[in-house]
Amino acid sequence: MKAIVINEYGGKELLHEQEVSKPEITEDQVLVEVHATSINPIDWKLREGYLKEMLDFPFPIILGWDVAGKIVEVGTNVKNFGVGDEVFARPATTHNGTYAEYTTVDESRLAKKPENLSFEEAASIPLAGLTAWQCLLDETGVKEDSKVLIHAGAGGVGSLAIQIAKHFGAYVATTASEKNESYVKELGADQVINYRTQKFEEEIENFDIVVDTMGGEILERSFTVLKPGGKLVTIAGSPDQKLAEKYEVEANSYWLTENGKQLAQLGDLLEKGIVKPQVGHVFDFTAEQLQEAHGLSETHHAKGKIVIKMK
Ligand SMILES: NC(=O)c1ccc[n+]([C@@H]2O[C@H](COP(=O)([O-])OP(=O)(O)OC[C@H]3O[C@@H](n4cnc5c(N)ncnc54)[C@H](OP(=O)(O)O)[C@@H]3O)[C@@H](O)[C@H]2O)c1
Repeated sequence: MKAIVINEYGGKELLHEQEVSKPEITEDQVLVEVHATSINPIDWKLREGYLKEMLDFPFPIILGWDVAGKIVEVGTNVKNFGVGDEVFARPATTHNGTYAEYTTVDESRLAKKPENLSFEEAASIPLAGLTAWQCLLDETGVKEDSKVLIHAGAGGVGSLAIQIAKHFGAYVATTASEKNESYVKELGADQVINYRTQKFEEEIENFDIVVDTMGGEILERSFTVLKPGGKLVTIAGSPDQKLAEKYEVEANSYWLTENGKQLAQLGDLLEKGIVKPQVGHVFDFTAEQLQEAHGLSETHHAKGKIVIKMK
């Protein structure tokens, strides 16, 4: 099958097309014909070799960990899905990713594609959507009237997190640049802080929750907006526990769990139009286009999600 792979770590120019064998399913998996995938920052972080201690994969590595497509084969233990089903998933993080014509997915990580979504829209959801969902519901317990700060509201995770937090009744403040101010308001943000001209910690206080997607000094400054007992979750760094103690808050790093049941719950909100997919950019399935898509993700200024259309 056709795949876009890397055979060594380095720059985006290393992404190239290669014929590889079709992956084989285990009894708990399905084989999905990939109709669309999406780019996440993990793709280029892994491509550069930044994650090699944590994810020590053999080459060639097929990057990509979002899929929307059609099931073409099912394992003998698979109960709730059949050939022909349209599905979406955040597959396990293996070296057989989704920049390929076919990919395997465990049944536990799979959900039916919402009928109203195109494959491109569906592929934009699993990784970023599950991250947003779990940060808000599992990690910080968002509820009616929670005051939540979401960093980078115009990004892949942020644009879904705003909508999910609003659905659960929160008051949402978010950071964005001026060009995205009306965009994040349309997503439901109650308060937009222009990170280029304002300091978020001077604009808000006594918040219940921070969802940090930036890390570094933004993560450090975020402690000050929380009230005692507040919760900070970061997907882009390690919070300083001395600061957590000083501000009497709980602060944790989080790495998403690929969970098909939660993806189905999010799928339900998508089907009802409560959460809307945020496809900001679409590329074709060629090495040149994937290189361009990586370049865009690496700027840190893509709007919503970057999707690769395969069919
Ligand atoms: N741990 C996990 O499980 C997990 C899961 C998913 C993602 N992540 C990590 O989370 C991070 C975010 O991922 P993503 O997919 O949301 O990234 P993304 O889509 O690439 O984020 C891009 C957005 O960031 C905004 N931005 C850039 N600088 C900013 C600043 N200083 N303040 C506020 N917004 C800023 C940009 O808005 P403007 O154009 O307006 O500047 C742009 O819309 C990445 O580091 C990724 O690796 C971790």
